[in-house]
Amino acid sequence: MVYIILTMVASMNGGNTNMCGIVGYIGSKEATPILLAGLKKLEYRGYDSAGVAVIEDGGLTVVKTVGKLDKLEKKLEEFNPSGFLGIGHTRWATHGRPNDVNSHPHKGYSDDFAVVHNGIIENYLELKEQLIEERGDVFASETDTEVIAHLVENYYAGDLVEAVRKAMAVIKGSYALGVVSIHEPDKLVAARKDSPLIVGLGEGENFIASDIPAILNHTRDVYLIEDGEVVLLTKDKATILDTDNKPVERKVFHVEWDAEAAEKGGFEHFMLKEIFEQPEAFKKTLSGRIQDGKVKLDELEFTKKQVDRWEKVFIVACGTAYHSGLIGKPLIEGFLRIPVEVDIASEFRYREPLVNEKTLALFISQSGETADTLAALREAKAKGATTIAITNVVGSTISREAHKTVYLWAGPEIAVASTKAYTTMLIAQYLVSVYLAQVKGTIDKDKAEKILAALQELPDNTRKILGQKDYYLRLAESLKGCEHLFFIGRGFDYHIAQEGSLKLKEISYIHAEAYAAGEMKHGTLALVTADTPVVAIALQEKTYEKTLSNIKEVTARDAYVIGLANEGDTEILKTVNEVIYIPRIENIVSPVLAVIPLQLLAYYAACVRGCNVDQPRNLAKSVTVE
Ligand code: M6R
Repeated sequence: MVYIILTMVASMNGGNTNMCGIVGYIGSKEATPILLAGLKKLEYRGYDSAGVAVIEDGGLTVVKTVGKLDKLEKKLEEFNPSGFLGIGHTRWATHGRPNDVNSHPHKGYSDDFAVVHNGIIENYLELKEQLIEERGDVFASETDTEVIAHLVENYYAGDLVEAVRKAMAVIKGSYALGVVSIHEPDKLVAARKDSPLIVGLGEGENFIASDIPAILNHTRDVYLIEDGEVVLLTKDKATILDTDNKPVERKVFHVEWDAEAAEKGGFEHFMLKEIFEQPEAFKKTLSGRIQDGKVKLDELEFTKKQVDRWEKVFIVACGTAYHSGLIGKPLIEGFLRIPVEVDIASEFRYREPLVNEKTLALFISQSGETADTLAALREAKAKGATTIAITNVVGSTISREAHKTVYLWAGPEIAVASTKAYTTMLIAQYLVSVYLAQVKGTIDKDKAEKILAALQELPDNTRKILGQKDYYLRLAESLKGCEHLFFIGRGFDYHIAQEGSLKLKEISYIHAEAYAAGEMKHGTLALVTADTPVVAIALQEKTYEKTLSNIKEVTARDAYVIGLANEGDTEILKTVNEVIYIPRIENIVSPVLAVIPLQLLAYYAACVRGCNVDQPRNLAKSVTVE
């Protein structure tokens, strides 16, 4: 029951995919230590810079720095800002590298306003250009957030709430905002759209935060802010205003959980939280990248001449990222009609790959720091290839060294087992392959439109799969005592089997192998007995009948089979013991959905076997040694 409530709070709060951390304070105590302590409680989210802005003696002091909070703490000792109103932020870089200037808070064009922001402003470049042209504004940073600060200052005419609302009317994208101004030193204004925001209610003091842990040391009473709402905080009152500026009655939510549970948004493990964040992560990966039935990837901008020149494509990565590349290969080959090779990064450079100036090479890495992938990137560049990085971490080494970078925008992934990074890597590859084929003129308009429409339906379809979590728990219980397991499938389904098997062995320590379903009878079938369960993926229409035959081969050897099938497929019921259904979507996009039940199966198998889910033995999140 408690779990259900926590999950509900997390999803009400936008699925907790905010990439950064926000804290704000107004009251009668010194703001700086409260902000710093709050930011420390958000450290688990990952960040690359931090800062605070405090209203002191009618002025505004902003102290910020690249690096961790101990660095900020030292800087704060030096500047020692003193005041009772302030905002703080830990930044996970999105627009602009992690450095002092790009850190939050950001000021407007004077020293009168400061803003902290989580989320992404999609039209910031357009707005920035407008502000430069019309008002001659000068911007200090490369961030989208600084544009908000300028807009608020520009619209300010004596009412901070009104100025924030006017800024909200012109910005497109996602945000949780905290805004202060020296003109209203007794007010803290906050706002939310598609990025979590809560208000903490104290005695003679109030707080804002992107996440509950930041304020748990001060209060357990919170308001959960909803999309489109603006909040006006004074030290004695927190007023929520709806889109028509009318006060909203909100029930106080009393937080019962401890700080550790709160960091995980109420989920028992980061892995589960990250699995549940996928609908929001998908929205962010897709945000602004599909327009008028076409893919828009400003970060690539290749000409037809450049694309036509490529005779070969390499996709290079490790582990889960490599598995995502296996799905990318048929996409690029199918849409661009260019041969693609997928390589494990640690193998790539030692096999003297045939790379030259007519090669495009894609390097996929959640962290952007994996040593083998980085070495492979350097090798390909040295041989003249055009390189594209697909990564989640802005400013990571791989993102800096590749010619072009496509970011996943999945938000920090903390669990060692990669989940939302994998699915967003797939989405990024659908986008990149359709984009390149558009430029080359090799993709049929209808086909592209169907794929893009299916991508946009992924968040809703994913929620349906997540809604069946109890079923995956039950299936995982049935696998609890098993020692060996097979995952089988054909085509895309085989590659999903590979990822499902890696996930299971990585965290539950059950030995699992993925096999191309048609290949079992060439040797491995000898291992199949009543003690080797089989997860059989049968989603691809082209090979459906053949896969059913392969499933029969294992059931004939008494294997217990869990089928993974498209909703409405009753045929499969005749051949399997259990079936997991996923929503039926455009077949080519089904891998993104197919892997989610397998992530959950692995997760629950690890739980029922008592394993350390988030930090499996012998493994690290980022492998920075070759
Ligand atoms: O950060 P990267 O995507 O480059 O990491 C690559 C692999 O180390 C990573 O995917 C690993 O396989 C995961 N632990 C799998 O869940």
